[in-house]
Amino acid sequence: MKKTICLLPGDGIGPEIIAQGVKVLEATAEKFGHEFVFETALIGGAAIDGAGDPLPEATVSKCRSADAIYLGAVGGPKWDKLSPEMRPEKGLLRIRKELGLFANLRPAMLLPELAGACLLRADIAAKGLDLMVVRELTGDVYFGEPRGIETRDGLRTGYNTMIYNEEEIRRIAWVAFEAARKRRSKVCSVEKSNVLESSRLWKEVVMEMHREYADVELSHMYVDNAAMQLVRDPSQFDVILTGNIFGDILSDEASVITGSLGMLPSASTGASGPGLFEPIHGSAPDIAGRDVANPLATILSAAMMLRLSFDMAEEADQIEKAVRKALADGFRTADIMEPGKEMLGCKGMGDKVVERL
Ligand code: IPM
Ligand code: MG
Repeated sequence: MKKTICLLPGDGIGPEIIAQGVKVLEATAEKFGHEFVFETALIGGAAIDGAGDPLPEATVSKCRSADAIYLGAVGGPKWDKLSPEMRPEKGLLRIRKELGLFANLRPAMLLPELAGACLLRADIAAKGLDLMVVRELTGDVYFGEPRGIETRDGLRTGYNTMIYNEEEIRRIAWVAFEAARKRRSKVCSVEKSNVLESSRLWKEVVMEMHREYADVELSHMYVDNAAMQLVRDPSQFDVILTGNIFGDILSDEASVITGSLGMLPSASTGASGPGLFEPIHGSAPDIAGRDVANPLATILSAAMMLRLSFDMAEEADQIEKAVRKALADGFRTADIMEPGKEMLGCKGMGDKVVERL
């Protein structure tokens, strides 16, 4: 099969980790007789420097005509002082919005190979952790209007709008229920309906949707409690369905308790058009260019791309197995290093995965 993949390496460690992912994709193509054609485009700080815009029009059109988009990370201190519209993060938020990528899937699991890196108490970890955060990605306080900073009664005042309409809630709830059917058939909807109107509507609409999914067990949790339950007993969760801001926070939490932010992939999809695949971690400017970043979240994001966008389940399985084999064979990057293991750089870890494909 021939597929075009638009690469958006972005900033910080983005280019190094994407290079490892590309290596793995090329090896997979060779092994299975596919042809992956790579196009590269600018996003984030790199695009601000190169084209004066965190998301140049040329990038949007390259993404639209690709079969999938593969993104590294955006942001860094160099661009922190720019206006909100010119921040690197705006590039990422705009590409999600422009391509209608409303559903963000963020699986978090505890690999037995990395049990030693898990931050949870042994008896809690022993119960297991295998969940998927289904995060709404194009609504909420991230995009709600009005927003701004202005002077009110002589005081500088900042404000944003937390807002969802029922259609936005329905389509993400649908994704979560469908995902649950392919897993352990449990959805926990996370919101703050004891305080927020947008959450009250969220809960109401999710309950309505549930009528079509009687085979899926639905529960509801306030976000503060969910944050606590995630460390107290993550084994209770299968699919966590939540909005944009709560999902941003809970997915970082869910990932780091597994041992490292550097391990977790993600997929963003819409009703049609190419999906976007990226690690959930950021651009880590402090370690950029030093060949120490963990490329595994990015490599595992490539596996999600193959499975979800290209229907290449076997190829995806092989990549995931190669990652686990590299870990089982004792190779680690600095973020997941344990005594007695061999520490590798970003490129070295990429090579070990390729060798095991
Ligand atoms: C993420 C990131 C982004 C977000 C930032 C970089 C805009 O934290 O993908 O989780 O908040 O969505
Ligand atoms: Mg985040």
